[in-house]
Amino acid sequence: MNILVIGSGAREHTLVWKLSQSKHADKIYAVPGNPGMADLAECIDGVSITDNAALVKLAQEKNIGLAVVGPEVPLTNGAVDAFAAAGIKAFGPVQAAAEIEGSKAFSKDLMKRYNIPTAKYEVFTEAQAAKDYIKAEGAPIVIKADGLAAGKGVIVAMTMDEAIGAIDEIMGDKAFGSAGSRVVVEEFMSGEEVSVLCFTDGKTIIPMVPSQDHKRVNDNDEGPNTGGMGAYAPAPVGTPELLAQAQKEILDPVIKAMEQEGRLYKGCLYAGLMVTDRGPRVVEFNARFGDPETQVVLPLLDSDLVEVMLACIDGKLAETEVKWSNGAAVCIVMAAGGYPRAYNKGDEITGVAECEKAGNMVFQAGTAMKDGKLVTCGGRVLGVIAKADGIKEAVDKAYAGVDKISFKDAHFRHDIAHWALERLNK
Ligand code: AMP
Ligand code: GLY
Repeated sequence: MNILVIGSGAREHTLVWKLSQSKHADKIYAVPGNPGMADLAECIDGVSITDNAALVKLAQEKNIGLAVVGPEVPLTNGAVDAFAAAGIKAFGPVQAAAEIEGSKAFSKDLMKRYNIPTAKYEVFTEAQAAKDYIKAEGAPIVIKADGLAAGKGVIVAMTMDEAIGAIDEIMGDKAFGSAGSRVVVEEFMSGEEVSVLCFTDGKTIIPMVPSQDHKRVNDNDEGPNTGGMGAYAPAPVGTPELLAQAQKEILDPVIKAMEQEGRLYKGCLYAGLMVTDRGPRVVEFNARFGDPETQVVLPLLDSDLVEVMLACIDGKLAETEVKWSNGAAVCIVMAAGGYPRAYNKGDEITGVAECEKAGNMVFQAGTAMKDGKLVTCGGRVLGVIAKADGIKEAVDKAYAGVDKISFKDAHFRHDIAHWALERLNK
């Protein structure tokens, strides 16, 4: 069948790469796609990923048997609803279900109503009321813009001043636009984070191998939050016991809750968990594959991704076996100078082919072709991935790959997977 992937990041590059290995895949199209996937998919320019009618028209013209919607913006904009209405199978939650990511207030209220463990919180639309609450609760405390903010609308405030400043920034200066007209203020949770991406058909939910992202821009988890600077899987913090507890207390209940709310959730549900001394607690749900986590999780998937996605769409996940390979995968994100603040664009990237020749994979995100050359055009430029028998070998192989790639002011973290290596050394 022909397949359409929507999005242009490294997550979508990874999806195209994995889908292209399916025995069911004929031609793959990507809207808009990126230069990294151009040898696997035909990239189509000029169709907006938020124009549902145009996406459906394209899918009809190209005789698409499976559409895969990558990013949160088209998901919360109802792309899957539009495909379904036209009789086209699409992987991802419908708009009403994608609200679990689209509104943090919705997702927190849902967890409260269904007793799903998460941080205590309050939702505010008035800055003064939020500040009063912060003063009563004390620091550390966490401030979150309600709506979508590309992973950057969260401030973990270690002091009261920082917390008050965050309210001024989000609600006063509108640093995240309308996403900040409501804020969630929540209890600080300490522990190690783990990302549990799951396949679900709305009734059955199956976790993928647990992974871990590195959200802060600098080594030692310092500096501002980013979309994610690297990842690895499997994350040793996600022990079988922890996953079993998460399944029982978080994953099964949230899927049932969404069904009861009339928001049947199909697709990939991303559970960001904090492993606290009181067990796993939800940091956030995302309505999509995580990035960079997808770049390390899908390389470990042995099953045919088209078959798993169709099982999710058709409500047949319980009858489908999802198989994983042994070994580990590591992703190092190389970012443009300045990211996550204002960054350079248009700098030439060299060494991708050498890196791939050495046995790494390179999943591209913020890249473009200019005068026949590969150049930077986004904050997170690309991910260098290595697969090996163990985390340590994969880390070394990934950094050897990073050494082969260069562009002006490139920066990356030097300590990806440090939590895993510390655990394994213990
Ligand atoms: P989110 O976008 O909700 O995942 O938040 C981004 C990051 O902020 C998370 O990955 C955590 O590192 C951190 N964070 C969010 N909520 C909390 C919390 N309640 N306690 C501690 N850290 C948090
Ligand atoms: N890596 C975090 C996210 O995809 O939201």
